Amino acid sequence: MADEAHVPVLLQEAIAALALRPEGTYVDATFGRGGHSAAILAHLGPSGRLVALDRDPAAAAAAARIGDPRFVFRHAWFSELRDVLAALGIDAVDGVLLDLGISSPQIDDPQRGFSFRADGPLDMRMDPTRGESAAAFLARADARELMEVIRDYGEERSAQSIARAIVAGRAHAPILRTGQLAALVAQAVGTRPRGDWGQDPATRTFQALRIHVNRELAELALTLPAIVAVMNAGARLAVISFHSLEDRIVKRFMAQASLPFGGDPRLARFAIRADDLPAAPLERVGRAIRPGPAETAANPRSRSATLRVAERTTAPLPAGFAASFAATP
Ligand SMILES: C[S@@+](CC[C@H](N)C(=O)[O-])C[C@H]1O[C@@H](n2cnc3c(N)ncnc32)[C@H](O)[C@@H]1O
Repeated sequence: MADEAHVPVLLQEAIAALALRPEGTYVDATFGRGGHSAAILAHLGPSGRLVALDRDPAAAAAAARIGDPRFVFRHAWFSELRDVLAALGIDAVDGVLLDLGISSPQIDDPQRGFSFRADGPLDMRMDPTRGESAAAFLARADARELMEVIRDYGEERSAQSIARAIVAGRAHAPILRTGQLAALVAQAVGTRPRGDWGQDPATRTFQALRIHVNRELAELALTLPAIVAVMNAGARLAVISFHSLEDRIVKRFMAQASLPFGGDPRLARFAIRADDLPAAPLERVGRAIRPGPAETAANPRSRSATLRVAERTTAPLPAGFAASFAATP
């Protein structure tokens, strides 16, 4: 179906990054419409295995069409990866791919509420079976919380005016439609190019609400250390991100986990010889990879993509590895 199409971003680069072994067990933690999964399966032999996850029930329907005995799909959030693998009897895997953000069918379907271009219900949940919709959040949050979300997750300079406009607007009528919100934002910020390269005034507010409603940054930050805990020595982690807030989390995590003390900032303060500290659990592979001009011309959605790759070393995970990331200043 044309409206189901999603062109996978950095496909060849992501497949090369995973350094697939035909008999390996892999995870595609963001199945979407399965573009990356199909390429992974094409590289696996008869004993290879691919576990795919997505929190969008619509992705489950696409996965059901795959019909390959080496493939299994679970409707789950990727922060639940460990439990999903445990339920399948899998202790460790040989590679994990995260292709973050939303898929084209999610943006293109006005009923999902992600887009300010077409009017629809203001939902924005990747997983409509859980959590609070964007409309519910806009109805209950106070002006300060609205301002903080729009400022922090949208990097929006007019966050205060937009938050005030939302509070004033909802006093007249509940904000239930994407069109209503886009109009409120446009009114609040006035017309601007203001160095935003002709971006629609609602772009940043919609991005902010989407990140908030789906807890995107928390999901990512909590999941990265959990992934390392299920990687075999030599396994690869490949992460494609689509905006700087995500990429910063991935970059810092990979840098920190590649330190000899496993990234535990608490140990860095003491005069312990590097040889006595636990060796680094990860090693970064190459530099950040971005799409070339041919890909960005053919698929404008790829413009903001960054792929980062790291490999699990043979070093055991230091005790409290995941907790040490939460403790990072
Ligand atoms: C960019 S798309 C992936 C596209 C996919 N690689 C393909 O080729 O079709 C991102 C997908 O990840 C899913 N997703 C995002 N965050 C998730 C999370 N925390 N847990 C599970 N799935 C998530 C979204 O629902 C979406 O389907």
